[in-house]
Amino acid sequence: MVKICCIGAGYVGGPTMAVIALKCPSVEVAVVDISVPRITAWNSDQLPIYEPGLDEVVKQCRGKNLFFSTDVEKHVFEADIVFVSVNTPTKTRGLGAGKAADLTYWESAARMIADVSKSDKIVVEKSTVPVKTAEAIEKILTHNSKGIKYQILSNPEFLAEGTAIQDLFNPDRVLIGGRQTAEGLKAIQALKDVYAHWVPEENIITTNLWSAELSKLAANAFLAQRISSVNAMSALCEATGADVAEVSYAVGKDTRIGPKFLNSSVGFGGSCFQKDILNLVYICECNGLPEVAEYWKQVIKINDYQKNRFVNRIVASMFNTVANKKVAILGFAFKKDTGDTRETPAIDVCKGLLGDKAQLSIYDPQVTEDQIQRDLSMNKFDWDHPLHLQPMSPTTVKQVHCVWDAYEATKDSHAVCVLTEWDEFKNLDFQRIYDNMQKPAFFFDGRNIVDANKLREIGFIVYSIGKPLDAWLKDMPAIA
Ligand code: UDX
Ligand code: UDX
Ligand code: ADP
Repeated sequence: MVKICCIGAGYVGGPTMAVIALKCPSVEVAVVDISVPRITAWNSDQLPIYEPGLDEVVKQCRGKNLFFSTDVEKHVFEADIVFVSVNTPTKTRGLGAGKAADLTYWESAARMIADVSKSDKIVVEKSTVPVKTAEAIEKILTHNSKGIKYQILSNPEFLAEGTAIQDLFNPDRVLIGGRQTAEGLKAIQALKDVYAHWVPEENIITTNLWSAELSKLAANAFLAQRISSVNAMSALCEATGADVAEVSYAVGKDTRIGPKFLNSSVGFGGSCFQKDILNLVYICECNGLPEVAEYWKQVIKINDYQKNRFVNRIVASMFNTVANKKVAILGFAFKKDTGDTRETPAIDVCKGLLGDKAQLSIYDPQVTEDQIQRDLSMNKFDWDHPLHLQPMSPTTVKQVHCVWDAYEATKDSHAVCVLTEWDEFKNLDFQRIYDNMQKPAFFFDGRNIVDANKLREIGFIVYSIGKPLDAWLKDMPAIA
């Protein structure tokens, strides 16, 4: 029986290993983590992450060939294949601060593997890492090897949160990079055999190590670039009277461009796009390519611009002040069907409104009040360091209220902002919401999910991203 151990029971490690266990009954999978609460949650009925379909997969395999444990060393010792799926946050200080990936967790995992191993192992990079990380890991392992042979593979994960299980069941492709030596090719084949249990052979791509590492950063940069491109168009649409949804549809009909990832929004978020692009920027700078670095930096700059533009629009249309006004925030997660708030545009939008002294009433179906308060009291980049949390600032606590219902959030408010496209927000009783709000009642749709004309008929003043502005908004122009 092949034994797999995955270090890191997070958004990537947890779902990926659960699906491997489900699809490969002959493989024993142990997911390990240093965080006791995380592992306790994986072993309970309340899994630590919300992901449609995940509960069923875990229930089917847990205790049979899928185990969650904090005994990291025992399971690494026993494994043939060790996946490393620990966090790689952006460095907050020192060389490359604000851009480079912090490999502290990775390095400590590698040193631990070298310490406890007594047999040859395949070590698989699962977390997104900068190009050439495998070389560093290889050095750490071989310099501490005590005669044990290691093969390093890069097997980046392309799943998107909210659709993780579906993405893992039917991946567009699985990518495996490894050394092009006899031993390297053998290791690639061993990992390929695992995925071949359910992924068609033609969808398993094998490459050299560096191509696999770079393809992950490149794919995320290309996806994010599309959103920044369409968001840049949304500003032009508002200025000209074009409708960004019509423009996206017309452009996306060209099969060379395609319809996906052209939804204009308040900005992209998530643990990957910004971090990976910043990483790419840093790698370009380190390789003496400042023009290429600057090119990709623009994708992030347009994303920041889009979030600022949204806040400016809100404040400008509400007579240039939101001080002490109750503003309802519907949705805080970075997209629907997840409780993840890493880099969510809601953080910047809420901070912008708090800066203008608004009173926020926030509702998200999957994000806890604790998480929201923490996100809003932390500096950028701190979110990935849960062990070094700062205390909440007293102002944030006073200005932010979290409630468990959209109607409660919007009651007596001056404005409603939709920041996440949860399905339940599409079919709210908007008449009821309007009746319980201050007038004029404003509705700012950061995800373009509501029927703006229907809301206007009720009496709302509605702003949708990249759509023709109504007379009110035209009269109160926002400075971007
Ligand atoms: C383009 C649009 O494709 C077409 O829809 C529009 O109506 C007119 O402009 P065209 O300029 O004739 O058509 O050629 P196209 O095939 O799009 O190529 C444009 C340039 O891009 C060429 O120099 C081509 O060599 C280059 N190209 C295209 C690449 O460098 N790489 C590619 O993958 C595709
Ligand atoms: C992404 C990549 O899709 C995935 O391949 C990679 O492995 C990890 O990063 P994820 O961050 O889970 O996945 O979510 P994704 O669906 O890509 O959305 C990212 C952000 O872009 C979200 O905030 C989403 O709301 C936003 N988005 C997406 C848009 O604003 N418009 C779009 O058209 C698509
Ligand atoms: P991702 O989104 O990439 O899955 P997460 O932050 O959700 O990232 O998960 C990473 C996990 O890795 C965390 O649960 C963290 O506790 C765990 N981790 C970090 N370092 C180690 C380590 N040395 N050994 C075991 N687990 C670790």
